[in-house]
Amino acid sequence: MRLFLPIISALALLHQTVALSPVGHSPSGKPMYVVPNKSRIQQVGRDLKVFAPNGTLLETFANVIPQRTGKRNPATLTRRQGLSNVAAFVPLNNSDAMDMLDAFNTTFTVPPSPTTFESQLLWFAASVVLPDENGVPFGELRTLLQYGATVIQGGPFWTIAAQFEWFPDAGGLLQGFPIGFDPNVDVGTAINTSIVHVDVDFDPDLFWYRAGFSDIDGFPQLETGFFDPAITAVIGMEEEGALQSSDYPPEPFKFTKTNLTLGGGFPEIEWDVEDDPSAGAYVTVDVDGSKNAEIAIRF
Ligand SMILES: *[C@@H]1O[C@H](CO)[C@@H](O)[C@H](O)[C@H]1NC(C)=O
Ligand SMILES: *[C@@H]1O[C@H](CO)[C@@H](O)[C@H](O)[C@H]1NC(C)=O
Ligand SMILES: *[C@@H]1O[C@H](CO)[C@@H](O)[C@H](O)[C@H]1NC(C)=O
Ligand SMILES: *[C@@H]1O[C@H](CO)[C@@H](O)[C@H](O)[C@H]1NC(C)=O
Ligand SMILES: *[C@@H]1O[C@H](CO)[C@@H](O)[C@H](O)[C@H]1NC(C)=O
Ligand SMILES: *[C@@H]1O[C@H](CO)[C@@H](O)[C@H](O)[C@H]1NC(C)=O
Repeated sequence: MRLFLPIISALALLHQTVALSPVGHSPSGKPMYVVPNKSRIQQVGRDLKVFAPNGTLLETFANVIPQRTGKRNPATLTRRQGLSNVAAFVPLNNSDAMDMLDAFNTTFTVPPSPTTFESQLLWFAASVVLPDENGVPFGELRTLLQYGATVIQGGPFWTIAAQFEWFPDAGGLLQGFPIGFDPNVDVGTAINTSIVHVDVDFDPDLFWYRAGFSDIDGFPQLETGFFDPAITAVIGMEEEGALQSSDYPPEPFKFTKTNLTLGGGFPEIEWDVEDDPSAGAYVTVDVDGSKNAEIAIRF
C-alpha cells in the first residue's frame, strides 16, 4: 500500500476537528476537503451542509447556492474551470417522476498507465450534474478513476474516488475518504460504478443520489441531497498538464455496459458529445442508447 504524507495529514485533520479544513487546492484552484466515507452533502436553503454518516454536522458552506430568481434556464453542461474536458452527456427532462434519474451505472477496466509522467492529472468519471433552483448547473457528484497527483492522493498510478465538486466562484471539492481504505487500483481491474437515486427518511423532500463503487467492499461512497433532481448524466475525462500522447493511456479508455434508467425504465436516448480542442483527446459514442451503451475516450 502506498501511503503518502498528504494522506496521513488529511486523516489527521479528520481526527482532530469536526470542522473541515482544506487540505489543499484542486487543479482548478478550488479548496479540496476530505470527508469521511459515506458523508451526506445537503442543500439547506442557500447553504451547503456536510454531515458525517453518524449525522454530525461537519461543515456549513454558507450562502454558496445561488438564490432562486424565478427564471429557469434550460439544462446545460457547464464547462468546468481550469481543467480541459471531453464528455458524452444526456440532458434529463425531469417533467415528472417517470423521467427523473433512477440509476446511472457503468463499467470500466483500469487501463495501462501512460508511458510518461510529468505530473499530468487525468480524471475519468461518471457524474450527475445537480442544479441550483434556477436550473443552472451548481455541482457534480461523481465516481472517478484518477491517474496522477492531487493534494489528497496520487502519483503515477491509478486511484479511485467519490467526489462532489461545486462550480461557482466560491466553489470547492469534497472527496470521500474511507479510513483504512487503499484507493490504489491495479491495471486490468474491472470496476462497476453507480449513481443511484435513493429515498431517505431524514429529508425526503430532497432528491438524494448516492455515488459509489458496487461489488467491492470498502469502496468510497458519497451522497447528495438537493431541492431539484439531477439535470444531466455525464461520462468523460478532465485533464490537466497532459502535453503529449504518451501522457495518456496507450489505448482508448472505454466505459462499457453503461445503463441510464429513469423512473419509467430505460428511455430512448442518444448521447451528445462535448469536445475541448485544447485536450489531446476526444470522445466517441460507440454503442448509443440507455442500455449497455459504450463510450470511449480516445487519445
Ligand atoms: C461522528 O463522526 C464524526 C466524524 O467522523 C466524529 O468526529 C464524531 O466523533 C462522531 N460522533 C459520534 C457520536 O460517534
Ligand atoms: C427528453 O424529451 C425528448 C423529447 O420528448 C426525448 O426525445 C428524449 O428522449 C427525452 N430524454 C430523456 C433523457 O428522457
Ligand atoms: C445500477 O447499480 C445499482 C447498484 O449496484 C443496482 O442496484 C441497479 O440495479 C443497477 N441498475 C442498472 C439498470 O444497471
Ligand atoms: C446494464 O444492464 C445490463 C442489462 O440489464 C447488464 O447486463 C449490465 O451488467 C448492466 N451494467 C452495469 C454497469 O450494471
Ligand atoms: C459488475 O456488475 C455486473 C452486473 O451486476 C456483474 O455481473 C459484474 O460481476 C460486476 N463486475 C465487477 C467487476 O464487480
Ligand atoms: C464506505 O462506505 C460504504 C457504504 O457504507 C461501505 O460499503 C464501505 O465498506 C465503506 N468503506 C470503508 C473503508 O469504511
